[in-house]
Amino acid sequence: MKASYLIRKAQPKDVPAIAAINSQNLLENLTHLSAEQLARRGFLVSRLDERKILSIVQDGKNGLVRVACNGAQVVGYAFAYNGLLLMRDEPQLLDTLQINPEYRAMFGEFCAGAIKLVCLDQIAVDEQMGRGAGRPLFERVLKDALKQGYQVLEDLVLLQPVRNDRSHRFHDEVGMVSVGTQTIGKNGQAYVWDLKVQFLCPDLRAAEGS
Ligand SMILES: CC(C)(COP(=O)(O)OP(=O)(O)OC[C@H]1O[C@@H](n2cnc3c(N)ncnc32)[C@H](O)[C@@H]1OP(=O)(O)O)[C@@H](O)C(=O)NCCC(=O)NCCS
Repeated sequence: MKASYLIRKAQPKDVPAIAAINSQNLLENLTHLSAEQLARRGFLVSRLDERKILSIVQDGKNGLVRVACNGAQVVGYAFAYNGLLLMRDEPQLLDTLQINPEYRAMFGEFCAGAIKLVCLDQIAVDEQMGRGAGRPLFERVLKDALKQGYQVLEDLVLLQPVRNDRSHRFHDEVGMVSVGTQTIGKNGQAYVWDLKVQFLCPDLRAAEGS
């Protein structure tokens, strides 16, 4: 059954609750589940960097953190940050992308800051998932990103070694489209991510491409 959730900006006091939701969704803490159970449940791959979250919560620049609340309880969070920082801090990631030519052509403009890209790093809900917290959380991130001048929102959803089916369905439902993949080797295993985007400005949609 759907519930009603308040979506608001995160505050410093929310960081422990955000970290707890991150932890309960972490792949490394769900090793008792089979691949099918993981796909159905959904999961996160990366442990949250609490200092990074706190700095974005405190200065409000270069990203946004929003929480979903049921009464006083934080039940979900979404965290997105300025893609220009990622390009600056980890330019080697560009070599790991297999993306359509239209989207690749945009990268020069992201790097020059001519098109503002925001990366949805994590979205997760606690045991209340599936009851309607995720969608308004995502929609609030979109709305606030647009207000902050961002034109493209990007997210990565795991395809291999374990497909995050639940998250793929969620991203499809909220209107994100795939523009390619990213492949990163980790502990001798290939992690392949689906790169999904949403264009916040209609005139950029040609890059959805083939
Ligand atoms: C992905 C996640 C954030 C979505 O949040 P949620 O609260 O479960 O989503 P909602 O209940 O708002 O559902 C949103 C849409 O997703 C789809 N959805 C939700 N649960 C689903 C399920 N079990 N199977 C298929 N689709 C589902 C529905 O179509 C729903 O559409 P609707 O709003 O028209 O009903 C949440 O499931 C989660 O935290 N999963 C674990 C962590 C994770 O995978 N994060 C994403 C990593 S990339």
